Amino acid sequence: MILVTGGAGFIGANFVLDWLDCSDEPVINLDKLTYAGNLGNLASLKRDTRHIFVRGDIGDRNLVLHLLSLYRPRAIVNFAAESHVDRSIHGPADFIATNIVGTFALLDAARGYWNTLTGNELAQFRFVHISTDEVYGSLEPAAAPFSETNAYAPNSPYSASKASADHLVRSYQHTYGLPTLTTNCSNNYGPRQFPEKLIPLMLYNALAGKPLPVYGDGGNVRDWLYVGDHCAAIRMVLEQGRPGETYNVGGNAEIANIDVVRTLCRVLGEQKPGCDAESLITFVKDRAGHDRRYAIDASKIRRELGWEPSETFESGIARTVAWYLDNAGWLAAVTSGEYKNWISLNYAAEVA
Ligand code: NAD
Ligand code: DAU
Repeated sequence: MILVTGGAGFIGANFVLDWLDCSDEPVINLDKLTYAGNLGNLASLKRDTRHIFVRGDIGDRNLVLHLLSLYRPRAIVNFAAESHVDRSIHGPADFIATNIVGTFALLDAARGYWNTLTGNELAQFRFVHISTDEVYGSLEPAAAPFSETNAYAPNSPYSASKASADHLVRSYQHTYGLPTLTTNCSNNYGPRQFPEKLIPLMLYNALAGKPLPVYGDGGNVRDWLYVGDHCAAIRMVLEQGRPGETYNVGGNAEIANIDVVRTLCRVLGEQKPGCDAESLITFVKDRAGHDRRYAIDASKIRRELGWEPSETFESGIARTVAWYLDNAGWLAAVTSGEYKNWISLNYAAEVA
C-alpha cells in the first residue's frame, strides 16, 4: 500500500480517487482536515476497504511512525500543505508550521522507517513530495519557462515555505540517501477545488450573481493544468522516476487571468443558458507581491517518463464547469460557515 498525506484536499482527493480507479493497491490517507480538507471529497470511498482514513498531522512524528510500522507502505506521497497564497499573506504562521516543520517531521519519520527496511521493501521505497512552480519566482514576459535547473526565488510566504520544504527533501536524499522525488507543478484546476482559488471562486460567484474580483489589471499569467493530468504525472513519477530527481509538470496553457475568467464565463453561459457572468467582472486591488508570470517547461518529464497532459484548457474547463453545475450540494457545503469569514477578510469592502 501507499501512504498519501493531505488526501482530503483538492489534488490529494483527486489522486486517491484516480489511484483506486486505476489499481487495487490500498491507500492510507493521513489528513489533518483543516478548512481545506473535506471528507465529502471521498464520499464515494465510504465503504471501500482499500481506503483507510486517519485524521492527523504530518508534524506528529510518533503518529506517522506508528502508521508506517503498522501498514508498511511502499511509498509516501506528500500533498499535505497550506496551499493558498492569499492566506499566507494574511497569516504565514500555519504555512511555516505545516509546510516546513511538518514536512521535516514527515521526512524524519520516513527516514526512521526506511532505515528498518531490507530487501525488496528497501529497494522499492519512495518518498514523493508534491511542490509548486511558485518556488522559482516570477518570469519576465519573454523569459523561457521554468526548467528544473532554474534557481529558486520564492516571493510569497507560501512559496518560501514550499521552497524550504523542497530543500529539506533534497537534503534528506543527498545526506541520508532517502529515495525522494519532487514534482513542481503549475496551477491546477478541476473538480473538488476549494472556492478560494481563482477558477472555483469565479464559478461560485458567477452562480451566485456576485462580482468576479480580478486582481490588478488581470494580466498576470499562469500555466493551467487539469488536475487529473497532474495525478497521472505523479503516478508516473512514483513508478518510473529516478530517486533524487525533480520533475516540472505543466499544462502548456499559459493564460492571463482575465482570459481565464472570460473563458469561464463563456463556458458557463454555454452550459447554463441565460447565465451572463461576464458583466460581473470587477477589477480589484492587486495581491501584495503578486507574481506576474509562471510557465513550466515540462520537457524533462515528457522525455524521461513519457508524460503529457491529455486535456487542453478548453476541454478541461468544460469538464470542470460541468462538475460544479452537477455538484451544487458540494459547493453549498464548503461555502457555509467559515468560508464567509475568509471572503470578507480577503476582499474587504471591495466585493460584496
Ligand atoms: P488543498 O489546500 O486543497 O489541500 C491540502 C490538504 O492538506 C487538506 O486536505 C488539508 O486538510 C491537509 N493538511 C493541511 N495541513 C496538514 C497537516 N499539517 N497534516 C496533514 N494534513 C494537512 O491543497 P491542494 O491544492 O490540493 O494542494 C496539494 C499540494 O499540491 C500542496 O502541497 C500544494 O503546495 C501543491 N500544489 C498545488 C497546486 C494547485 O494549483 N492547487 C499546484 C502545484 C502544487
Ligand atoms: O502555481 C501553482 C500554485 O497555484 C500552487 O502552488 C498554489 O497552491 C495554488 O493556490 C496556485 O497559486 P496561485 O496564487 O497562482 O492561485 P490562485 O487561484 O489563488 O490565483 C490564480 C491567479 O488569479 C493569481 O494571479 C491571482 C489571481 N486571482 C486570484 C483570486 C483568488 C484573482 O485575480 N482574483 C482572485 O479572487
